[in-house]
Amino acid sequence: MKQRTHWESRVGFVLAASGSAVGLGNIWKFPYVTGENGGGFFVLVYLICVALVGLPVMIAEILIGRSTQNSPVGAFKSLSGTKSPWLSIGYLGLFSSFIILSFYSVVAGWSMHYTWLSVSGQLADLKPAEAEPIFDQLFQSTRMNLFWHMIFIGLTVGVVFKGISKGVERWSRILMPALFIMMLILLGKAIFMDGFSQAFQFVFGFNALKFSSTGALKALGQAFFSLSLGMGAMLTYGSYLRNQDGIVEASVTISILDTAIALISSLILFPIIFSYGMEPAAGPGLVFISIPIALSQMGSTTIFGTLFFALLVFAALTSAISMLEVSASYLIDEKKWTRVRATVVAGLAAGLFGIPSALSGGNWIFGSGLISLIGKNWFDSLDYLASNWMLPLGGLGIAIFTAWRMNEALRSKGFLSGSNLRIFYKIWLLLLKFLVPIAIVLIFLHAINLI
Ligand code: TRP
Repeated sequence: MKQRTHWESRVGFVLAASGSAVGLGNIWKFPYVTGENGGGFFVLVYLICVALVGLPVMIAEILIGRSTQNSPVGAFKSLSGTKSPWLSIGYLGLFSSFIILSFYSVVAGWSMHYTWLSVSGQLADLKPAEAEPIFDQLFQSTRMNLFWHMIFIGLTVGVVFKGISKGVERWSRILMPALFIMMLILLGKAIFMDGFSQAFQFVFGFNALKFSSTGALKALGQAFFSLSLGMGAMLTYGSYLRNQDGIVEASVTISILDTAIALISSLILFPIIFSYGMEPAAGPGLVFISIPIALSQMGSTTIFGTLFFALLVFAALTSAISMLEVSASYLIDEKKWTRVRATVVAGLAAGLFGIPSALSGGNWIFGSGLISLIGKNWFDSLDYLASNWMLPLGGLGIAIFTAWRMNEALRSKGFLSGSNLRIFYKIWLLLLKFLVPIAIVLIFLHAINLI
């Protein structure tokens, strides 16, 4: 058998996995979902979901990947046989990664458009009232949405077919820290805005009143989405990990980093929103409307805007490649396709399937037509279904499999090799056996109003 390629080091793995986790989910989605769900209490439930559900599932995913050195479907095959029903976790993951990539790329396309608007000076001297019409114009434009969506998919395919580790690992080392510094600069600006204390209260003031029955479901889904869990992306990345590299410390680092960036992002966006009297529940346009306003107040939209949005595109790219890598590694490992063929075909398919998402703002059928029919446009429907139901369902399967089905020797060896955290093994196993499955099922039942 061919030797599997590996990350060059544990740091390389942590960077790549953080690259997968940190993306539009933190900077674009977390603030707007928080806004739509009334702030504080949603954030609290989110944090609990990350620590008690997300982290244990992340450890389990990486562990399965590393122990089997295989992509999701193959991993479950080698652990439980070729006809096992557990394979459906792998297939579900393939399906979710495909759906998520199809609409993720549309939002990444918006970030590319904003990079272009910044470079070409079109955001210079922006007045606060002009920010929203600029986003609406993009949102409704069929041509621009399709154009950027396809460019972004093409970019993702280009990176993935060159193979894991080389390009991604090296670029991440520079650009991820750069993004973090950029965010700290913006946070420094936001702290001195009039709306900061109101924003802080909004994000951390634990007021349960505005919490709806699907609030917990959305917090759980957001935790899975943001940590890249439930569809085998972390499993796949774990399969490129060498045996001597510890999993637990890596997972904790990734989770903390991811959560910090989501919170910082909210603390940047909401002060702008409150200072300029905008609506926190403004939806998917939130980051694209508020960041240009803040930057134009700093008088530096062209340079900083270009930097910010280009880094956002990069963050989205490192996430998108982990999604495409799930389908590509399936086709390579299971169907014996070449890497080039696998990435091009899977990428093209996700690109085509993403067309209705790209049209959701401007096209009557996929936009307002569906809104009047089912209350959500195509884009939001896919996001809701994939993020809030399919990912936690995948996570449920992974938790039950790891805790109740996996061979104890293999599991404890996986947890402990390369790691000094022996005492946590029992706690982790208990969480995975009981708390994780129960929490996910309760949240599901609550969302359909059964409890
Ligand atoms: N976590 C990424 C983000 O926050 C998105 C992402 C990448 C993802 N890979 C994933 C989401 C796998 C779910 C599953 O932007």
